[in-house]
Amino acid sequence: MKTTVTTLQNMKAENKKIAMLTCYDYSTAKLMDEAGVDTILVGDSLGNTMLGYEDTISVTVEDMIHHCAAVARGAKNPLIVCDMPFMSYQSSVYDAVVNAGRLMKEGRAQMVKLEGGKEVCPQIEAIVKASIPVCAHLGLTPQSINALGGYKVQGKTEDAAQKLIDDARAVEAAGASMLVLECVPEKLATKITEELSIPTIGIGAGAGCSGQVLVYQDMLGMFTDYVPKFVKNFANVGEVMKNAFRQYKEEINNQTFPAAEHSYKIDDEVIGKLY
Ligand code: KIV
Ligand code: NA
Repeated sequence: MKTTVTTLQNMKAENKKIAMLTCYDYSTAKLMDEAGVDTILVGDSLGNTMLGYEDTISVTVEDMIHHCAAVARGAKNPLIVCDMPFMSYQSSVYDAVVNAGRLMKEGRAQMVKLEGGKEVCPQIEAIVKASIPVCAHLGLTPQSINALGGYKVQGKTEDAAQKLIDDARAVEAAGASMLVLECVPEKLATKITEELSIPTIGIGAGAGCSGQVLVYQDMLGMFTDYVPKFVKNFANVGEVMKNAFRQYKEEINNQTFPAAEHSYKIDDEVIGKLY
């Protein structure tokens, strides 16, 4: 069944946990759809996992559209959320609406996600007014890495924790339909989840959130450049892939691949006539 904003809202109300994964391509999206994943995030983490950047700063609206459209072709049931990349909404309310619109029209997203609290509430309001659902993102916000000074847990002091709660209330009041909490202490994320009526999706934010998200290469053990504390390894797909690549090379070297069943035939008579 198709997941909608209403589905997610009802899941929170009924205390059914929401399963979200990042995804960036058609074939993986199909697998996630078949596995029953509720919602997919086309994250700007594609800058790290798919494009090899050190951070998400260089990711463009075109990159997001390119990957989101592929995911949308593969995943029919999950609600598709697409990240607004760095400087596609911070610069102005106008930019925010135009770029959110492009992610919907060209990327076929069903919700857009942007990072920040009070400072982006005018953008959230304007995007929602354009009938585009918005997911907010608080705590560790990777697009602010140069201002934050490192990837670490957020909201540990009283001031920082209060600011997080205030920002969470502000994005809900501005019209956000969902909120991602990244690298936030479990008890704080639980309190925010209880305070808000919209669902929260945690990544490194403990079990009290309305749902969870992980970067799929992280949970599959395919991306080991940097593995945060909050990642659980659900399979060693990286090892499986590496072994298959190795075996492929070996079979080419020792000429066991391709075998007869992988090859096309032509009549000997035809071959015999050639000069
Ligand atoms: O880009 C991303 O993958 C994200 C998640 C980590 C929430 O924003
Ligand atoms: Na992101």
